[in-house]
Amino acid sequence: LKQAKMSCADVDAIAVTQGPGLIGSLHVGIQAAKTLAWAFHKPLVPVHHIAGHIYANALVSTLQFPLLALVVSGGHTELVYMRDEWSFEILGSTQDDAIGEAGDKVGRVLHLPYPGGVYVDRLAKEGKAIYPLAKPKPQGEFDFSFSGLKSSVLQFIARCERSHQEYVPADLACSYQECALSELLTPTRLALQRYEPKMMVLAGGVAANSRLRELVECELAAEFPKITFVIPPLSCCTDNAAMIAVAGSVAYRHGVRGDFTLSADPGMELCEAKG
Ligand code: KG4
Ligand code: ZN
Repeated sequence: LKQAKMSCADVDAIAVTQGPGLIGSLHVGIQAAKTLAWAFHKPLVPVHHIAGHIYANALVSTLQFPLLALVVSGGHTELVYMRDEWSFEILGSTQDDAIGEAGDKVGRVLHLPYPGGVYVDRLAKEGKAIYPLAKPKPQGEFDFSFSGLKSSVLQFIARCERSHQEYVPADLACSYQECALSELLTPTRLALQRYEPKMMVLAGGVAANSRLRELVECELAAEFPKITFVIPPLSCCTDNAAMIAVAGSVAYRHGVRGDFTLSADPGMELCEAKG
């Protein structure tokens, strides 16, 4: 408030993540938000974590609908279609691991620091995609799957170790990343063709991935010239409070309210976000 040269009187409401996520973290946030709402007599607005990631894009661009969001985080990989403001339809999602989770695991077996995805991204820049890895086969046309690819990396390393064969970690990081991103973009392309949205946004921590940003900005944007592509600034990709505030302001306009019985919902569904 000090930085924005504002006071509590300028605040319309207190937005808080209700779910999904780890119960402990959600609980702490909700208790703090309830206390602030009570102390300053402000309405309480529960927000879905993924709605926050999608609306992070509203910090840099006016969202246009219909909109397609490719949500890529540590816990989610899904294609969300928004016919209108604050309306969410999940077209497809991962059947096993989220892409962020798979990247973190690959980072761990390559002995990279946590969170692995960030360092796999850096290392991949120095390598070439030369190692053959398993191609996942998801069920639905808009669905994703990453556990087969992740296991393929683990098995590759185990095979090399067993036979005392050396491998180039940068080439393995690059091979994994190219496979994972091509797995991500195939259903996305199909959804763009089928739904013809006005805008496509990236959302979630993995939106910080440099190669994914390049593929969306260069390849997808060239393939679909009528669609506006938006990528959140790096500071808004991984979990942050501003994204919950901006989604909260839209939810507030749509009449979403919580009361003092509001509780954490670790398995909250995106369609429940509508209030
Ligand atoms: O959205 P987020 O901050 O938390 C969840 O809601 O899960 O996403 C965290 C995920 C982690 O898996 C992390 O490795 C991944 O985002 N991540 C990246 C990059 N930066 C963060 N993955 C690939 N490349 C990156 N540059
Ligand atoms: Zn997140």
